[in-house]
Amino acid sequence: MFVVHLVASFFSKLQEDPTKKVDRFLYAMHLHDDQLSDIAARFQAELKKGLSVESNAAAAVKMLPTHVRSTPDGSEKGQFLALDLGGSRFKVLQVKVREGMGMRRGGVELVEKTYPVPKELHIGRGTELFDHVSESLKDFIHEKNISLEKKQPLAFTFSFPCEQATLNQGLLLNWSKNFRARGLQGKDVVQALRGAINKTGGMDVEVLAMVNDTVATMMTCGFDDQYCEVGLIIGTGTNACYMEELRNVDLVEGDEGRMCVNTEWGAFGDDGALKDYITEFDRDVDAASNNPGKQILEKMVSGMYLGELVRLVVLKMAKLGLLFEGHVSDALRTKGTITTEHVAAMEEYKNGLNNTRNLLVDLDLSPTPDDCVAVQHVSTIVSFRSSNLVAAGLAAILTRIKQNRNLRTLRISVGVDGTVYKMHPQYPKRLQKVVRRLLPECHVRFVLSDSGSSKGAALVSAVAQRLALRRRQVDETLSPFRLSQEQLQLVKTRMRAGLEAGLKSKGPSAIKMLPSFVYRTPDGTEYGQYLALDLGGTNFRVLLVNFKQGLQQNPRLYHKIYTIPLGIMQGSGEELFDHIAECVSDFLDYMGMKNARLPAGFTFSFPCKQTSIDTGTLVSWTKRFKATDCEGHDVVNMLREAIKRRNEFDLDIAAVVNDTVATMMSCAFEDPQCEIGLIAGTGTNVCYMEELKNIEKIGQKTGNKDGAEGTAEGEEDEQDDGRERERKEGHAEIPKMCINTEWGGLGDDGSLDDIITPYDTEVDQNSLNPGKQRFEKLTSGMYLGEVVRQVLLDLTRGSLLFRGHVTEALKTPGIFQTKYLSHIESDRLALLQVRSILQQLGLDSTCDDSIIVKEVCGAVSRRAAQLCGAGMAAVVDKIRENRGLDHLNVTVGVDGTLYKLHPHFSSILQETARILAPQCNVTFLPSEEGGGGKGAALITAVARQKLEM
Ligand code: BG6
Ligand code: BG6
Ligand code: GLC
Ligand code: GLC
Repeated sequence: MFVVHLVASFFSKLQEDPTKKVDRFLYAMHLHDDQLSDIAARFQAELKKGLSVESNAAAAVKMLPTHVRSTPDGSEKGQFLALDLGGSRFKVLQVKVREGMGMRRGGVELVEKTYPVPKELHIGRGTELFDHVSESLKDFIHEKNISLEKKQPLAFTFSFPCEQATLNQGLLLNWSKNFRARGLQGKDVVQALRGAINKTGGMDVEVLAMVNDTVATMMTCGFDDQYCEVGLIIGTGTNACYMEELRNVDLVEGDEGRMCVNTEWGAFGDDGALKDYITEFDRDVDAASNNPGKQILEKMVSGMYLGELVRLVVLKMAKLGLLFEGHVSDALRTKGTITTEHVAAMEEYKNGLNNTRNLLVDLDLSPTPDDCVAVQHVSTIVSFRSSNLVAAGLAAILTRIKQNRNLRTLRISVGVDGTVYKMHPQYPKRLQKVVRRLLPECHVRFVLSDSGSSKGAALVSAVAQRLALRRRQVDETLSPFRLSQEQLQLVKTRMRAGLEAGLKSKGPSAIKMLPSFVYRTPDGTEYGQYLALDLGGTNFRVLLVNFKQGLQQNPRLYHKIYTIPLGIMQGSGEELFDHIAECVSDFLDYMGMKNARLPAGFTFSFPCKQTSIDTGTLVSWTKRFKATDCEGHDVVNMLREAIKRRNEFDLDIAAVVNDTVATMMSCAFEDPQCEIGLIAGTGTNVCYMEELKNIEKIGQKTGNKDGAEGTAEGEEDEQDDGRERERKEGHAEIPKMCINTEWGGLGDDGSLDDIITPYDTEVDQNSLNPGKQRFEKLTSGMYLGEVVRQVLLDLTRGSLLFRGHVTEALKTPGIFQTKYLSHIESDRLALLQVRSILQQLGLDSTCDDSIIVKEVCGAVSRRAAQLCGAGMAAVVDKIRENRGLDHLNVTVGVDGTLYKLHPHFSSILQETARILAPQCNVTFLPSEEGGGGKGAALITAVARQKLEM
């Protein structure tokens, strides 16, 4: 008390201008420009910290991605309900953006009603708060006669910090301001709202977007001003958002374009960044708040706290005898008796002093004229500090935007809302002046949001609605590619029936089930040096394969890849085989082996009817080949003829095998359980070891002289029975033969018509073999890209992609090769890279386009993998049943670019097979590079055992 009197007498002696003593008393609240620059610099560091993924968790300023990617472009339209919760008034609105008019031409109509929120709901149970919100909404719908015939889209302005993964979802991080309802923190607020709306009942409402008030304000103002890229609230609370470069927003995938970031700058200072500037009054306000230690800047700046700061200063000054001759009233001691409205009134230009006096009298005080001047000055200092701090924050954001864009000057508009800004007579001017002083190089325009944030929220929803419509249409387009378990089960059943029919039928069948005259898989005794030709996949290879005697180890491979020009693939048969002979000749030169008559195996990846291991009549070309005069001819003969025509070297062609068979053999060399070969490459096919007794078309007369050769029914069979030999050697108790299923033909009899989409039909019609290889066209590398292209064409024609421009690139067959599909679907690839791949292909895409393209690729390749998995389930179950086993362990040797390069194909295939054939434990063993050649060499070795160079 003694000290108080001393101080009081000291000040009263001076008899000075009352504002001076206030200035001295509140010295710490004066912020000079260099201090503001210092605060702006600290602010900038905080923005950076919040954006970075490493430091975000510890950052006070949360920098929340909003998923709003662009400011309005004028094309928005529609009719929306809106809720606006979190400011000084809770409002329900109807916002109509008239069709074809857009906001720019005044096409917006707003109907609104404010609903009081009882104080106890602010701090009661969250569910009760949301029930109140939803009941108010229902009341509004009834009162305004809003039709419930169709679903009403709703935009939700929720002015609290939420972590959003999408526009229509958001986890409440914490309450702020005067809200503290229980049970919502960490929960999805949109979900809570939906729950409440369902509970209330009688409404058909779809919550399209939830936005922070800053974002909504930026959008509202952005419609009238294309430069508006910052939203600012100085109301009950304070906050700002701005358009950040997406590449800087670590928490969201993607590098391109911008995204609005809700800074939640009210929390600036929560980690001590403002400690040099905090006064005892700030500490007291904080201590008495709902959220002590939190929202430090907000408590120095915003409407909820300004009046209280003034009250605490006046109270302290009165207690010190600096005001009211030391008299203090109960009212002055009571929290909340001075509000922001009072602060604004005290600073009114003409009536300010009068208003101050009236307020003080209302607070049971007896102010002298000097007291009134002093209290008015307190109010000025407190509100001035507020606008100065906001200016420092804005300076930080605007400097960041300027640096992001590498600009020396910046022209930008800031959309502003909030009671302090709107009510306080001096605030806007002061703020603008300081910002301009701190950033002389920026042309900053402040745009007052004319009709609150609901307009902006409706705009965000309008964009969301457009995107949702697009989403629905894309989903509808892709839904036929999404096969159910039942459908996959059906495919398995049909594949099984196809395999059985093919085994029985001597005439044509959809699945050909071609005997390969390979009776056993290798046993590791194979050795010698062989030439192998490998024709029919992506590459044509010639190989030299050398198995060391007695060593069951991988052979040495030498190989060369040759291209076969399309003109030759689709020219005459003679030209094709001459070309092959020329490549072999080149290879032999390259190896210096022109004069060696090497035993050779020919991997020929097309359906051949074989009557022995070294003959094969081409049934029909598939994939990219269409050379004339080959179908119906023995390809081994054609090759021999070509070699003869060349008259340069000779080969002993001992075996012709399908690539599936070669792959199985190659993998079986490593894993004796390998009894299936799968190709998922340019084409698709499977072979497996079938029991001879089931292969009706070759009857029981099949023979074999060396374990890998036989003759078909009707042919002379002078050799001893291969089965006998196998039995003797103990490799298999039951005689078997590898069957090249040619499963790519499943569906050629119409059995897949229910899953075939119009896009598949288009691909089939444009292919070299319409109506044929229907399963292959759904599942293999040569066609998947084409199916994707057909879907993209359709989406583009429907204006859902590439801005509706059907470009030449998109019209070009074959642009999506397997490798591009694989790249596009790679998880590690950022959207920007997808975009650059598309650009390489001549497709100019936006980020949204890239997302859709990736999705289309995913749907098409997933279906392919699932279909192959279903087919495989049929094959393994057949083998299991053949053997009468409850459980089968089997290995599948696999090759093909699709299987090996695609990031997800193999895992989806395996997973599907596992689900559809639960009694089989299937191991997938990818064959090594050159597996097709190695397999052919192995078969040749078996056929020409011990023939050595
Ligand atoms: C309004 C918005 O215009 O501004 C509110 O619609 C927002 O959602 C408000 O919170 C901020 O101002 P105050 O002063 O009402 O908190
Ligand atoms: C290879 C075989 O390993 O796989 C080829 O040797 C086969 O003959 C190929 O056709 C399948 O893959 P792709 O993707 O090249 O068709
Ligand atoms: C509080 C909220 C913030 C909101 C601001 C203005 O700071 O946390 O989300 O934008 O108030 O209403
Ligand atoms: C095609 C061929 C078949 C081959 C497959 C994989 O389906 O008809 O023989 O195995 O492609 O290359």
